[in-house]
Amino acid sequence: MSKSVSASASGQFKIGGDLSVNRLGFGAMRITGKGIWGDPADPAGARATLKRLTELDVNLIDTADSYGPYVSEDLIREVLHPYHGLVIATKAGLTRSGPDRWAAVGRPEYLQQCLEMSLRRLGVEQIDLWQLHRIDPKVPREEQFGAIAAMRKAGQIRHVGLSEVNVEEIEAAQKHFPVTTVQNQYNLVDRKSEAVLDYCDKHGIGFIPWHPLAAGELAKPGSILSKIAEQHHVTTGAIALAWLLKRSKVMLPIPGTGSVDHLIENVAAADVKLSDAEFEELDKQGRKAG
Ligand SMILES: NC(=O)c1ccc[n+]([C@@H]2O[C@H](COP(=O)([O-])OP(=O)(O)OC[C@H]3O[C@@H](n4cnc5c(N)ncnc54)[C@H](OP(=O)(O)O)[C@@H]3O)[C@@H](O)[C@H]2O)c1
Repeated sequence: MSKSVSASASGQFKIGGDLSVNRLGFGAMRITGKGIWGDPADPAGARATLKRLTELDVNLIDTADSYGPYVSEDLIREVLHPYHGLVIATKAGLTRSGPDRWAAVGRPEYLQQCLEMSLRRLGVEQIDLWQLHRIDPKVPREEQFGAIAAMRKAGQIRHVGLSEVNVEEIEAAQKHFPVTTVQNQYNLVDRKSEAVLDYCDKHGIGFIPWHPLAAGELAKPGSILSKIAEQHHVTTGAIALAWLLKRSKVMLPIPGTGSVDHLIENVAAADVKLSDAEFEELDKQGRKAG
């Protein structure tokens, strides 16, 4: 039943100009426990979801050392190693002290330790895409960028990404290393990062919108989103993803789930071709609802 949908229909993007992925990816934050803490409530479902990714041609998987912590990276290693063409993008720079508690630590020696441990947990010699989860405001950013540049120079990181940054921060980081992706919160109804997205589009930087499924009021029965979803025979979430994919050629959405059924519903977005009129209407309503 699932082979009829394929992430390859979402088109391809080359991260850093040389690492090709299907644009519709997967976020591996939801294969952990409540509050992104500890083991998932349904470990078998989480493993089955990861296993199904390759059958659906999803080959960009986003994770972080702090998801669990470690639970997400450990499960990815257990189920998907040695990865065979999958791009595993991880992040570091956020510490955890309990469910839903996150604190940035950007000291160079800590970032180096995070990288060493992600390499060990994921069972690789180089991370395909290593993202700084947050710039730590308590540490000079030049020190954080310098540490990342050194890790890249040592060959432990292939490509570097940033998360929750503005254009000025991207440009400051570019003095130390090529910024190949930016991961900011962005969806139909949260458009705070429009300027960052436009910058990424112009410079060929991959834009990874987190919380991509959110549509707030727009997802209600009778809304324009639900009408378009009915017409295309997919979920409202799939239309929210299809809108993102049409918004920019550098858009790499990473919807997250611990359920195989939800995964299949989300990957169905790859095949949805919104008309220009549908796109414009969703754009307008999304801005209003946000
Ligand atoms: N850089 C950052 O700071 C940052 C922050 C947050 C997230 N992220 C990344 O972005 C990814 C996505 O973000 P997100 O998980 O916050 O948002 P999301 O993907 O927009 O939404 C995930 C939520 O939607 C549910 N869901 C997924 N598919 C569904 C479907 N077909 N029908 C009904 N419900 C569905 C999931 O629950 P079920 O498990 O029940 O399906 C989960 O609660 C994460 O996995 C993570 O990799 C990054």
